[in-house]
Amino acid sequence: MSSRNLNRSVFGDPKNSGNLMSLEEANNLLNEWVPNEKLRLHMKQVAANMKAWAIEKEGADEQTALKWELAGLLHDADWEKYPDDHCRVIIEELEKRNIDPEVIHCIASHGPKVFGVEPETKMDKMIYAIDELSGFIHAAALIRGPQLYEGMEVKSVLKKLKTPSFAAQVGRDDIAEAVSRIEVTLDELIQFIIDHQRNVW
Ligand SMILES: [Fe+2]
Repeated sequence: MSSRNLNRSVFGDPKNSGNLMSLEEANNLLNEWVPNEKLRLHMKQVAANMKAWAIEKEGADEQTALKWELAGLLHDADWEKYPDDHCRVIIEELEKRNIDPEVIHCIASHGPKVFGVEPETKMDKMIYAIDELSGFIHAAALIRGPQLYEGMEVKSVLKKLKTPSFAAQVGRDDIAEAVSRIEVTLDELIQFIIDHQRNVW
């Protein structure tokens, strides 16, 4: 298995601070790079959670909220076409487009064990905590049939987390490790994600 360790700790150029792309531009990139609709949905859900967290919990202004949203929207953009080089390809693309280094660092640190980059900022820590859990909660919603997120409770998600055979590929230890880095309980984060991704399709 090839290593996806990025072997670097500096991303982007500080002079590009504040340089973001429009949501339209980000969605165009996504449509071009990610033909898989389910994977695109995952990124849109992570983006919605990130944006909502920035606004509701961090009091972010419009520009900052867009930064969080873009990191969520683009964090797996190269996964489908470049699985062995996942993260490196999208990082280099964003560096080429002179995007804000904080967005690039956030994407680079969304899997510290895999990419070898530690989450530093709150935005970094939140994408790491939200990413796997968002996918897990969506899987839990999908098996509920047509009701999906309707009436979904935190305790049922917790129960599924304790059932190793359910969504077995999702690393429970990684989720716990990511949540341990933020001042939020697992219960609170699950509720937040249910509330903010339920209408994102
Ligand atoms: Fe992801």
